[in-house]
Amino acid sequence: MTTRLLLSAAAAMALSAGAAQAQDCTFEAEIPDFTQEQIDALYECVRDDLLANYTAGDNEVAAVYRDWGQAQTGPAAPGFHGGRFLNTFVNEVGYDAYIQYEEDDETFEMPVGTVIAKESYTLRDNAPRRGPLFIMTRVATDDSPDTDGWVYSAVQPNGNPMGISQSFCHDCHGGFEFSDSLGYPAFEVRLGQ
Ligand code: HEC
Repeated sequence: MTTRLLLSAAAAMALSAGAAQAQDCTFEAEIPDFTQEQIDALYECVRDDLLANYTAGDNEVAAVYRDWGQAQTGPAAPGFHGGRFLNTFVNEVGYDAYIQYEEDDETFEMPVGTVIAKESYTLRDNAPRRGPLFIMTRVATDDSPDTDGWVYSAVQPNGNPMGISQSFCHDCHGGFEFSDSLGYPAFEVRLGQ
């Protein structure tokens, strides 16, 4: 009897927590008008859900990227990558080099072994909607000469691998020739600004 009461109390709490969350996670504002508070609140709504879904498959990067350093103060309102909110993490090999945000040196190269993962999400009908996890891995330039040493990949919002074209990604990234093909987060969310 006591157990059953406890269980139903827990179930009721879980239900009302779910309802409260659904309410908090409705955003009336248009994305370009998002305040920092709304950007932060939206990330709170998606952060656990993103990770749970990216890791639902067996992607090796998805399994570890949240242990890496975050390369920006927090998610930024969208620009590129399909109008999505973006949040970038870099593994230990490349973190220090990445957060220099070098973009004025044609000879600048990220260390071989750098892996960069970028979460993405947006709003659909005022509610959060997960986007892909975008990944760039730096190999020796000679090992991937057509893409200047970068290998591109992505994980679908449900954790499955995403079929992408190296040239599609690099046609744009290759334009960043003074930063070893990196686009970097928006200025306002770069560390140390
Ligand atoms: C139309 C141009 C464009 C295309 C196409 C594009 N990107 Fe990007 N990408 C950017 C820009 C700009 C940034 C920096 C934006 C930000 O983080 O706010 C970026 C950032 C990234 C980052 C974080 C590292 C960095 O550059 O600072 C990764 C990882 C990434 N993109 C992966 C991909 C993958 C994988 C593809 C192909 C599926 C792709 N990108 C296609 C423009 C593009």
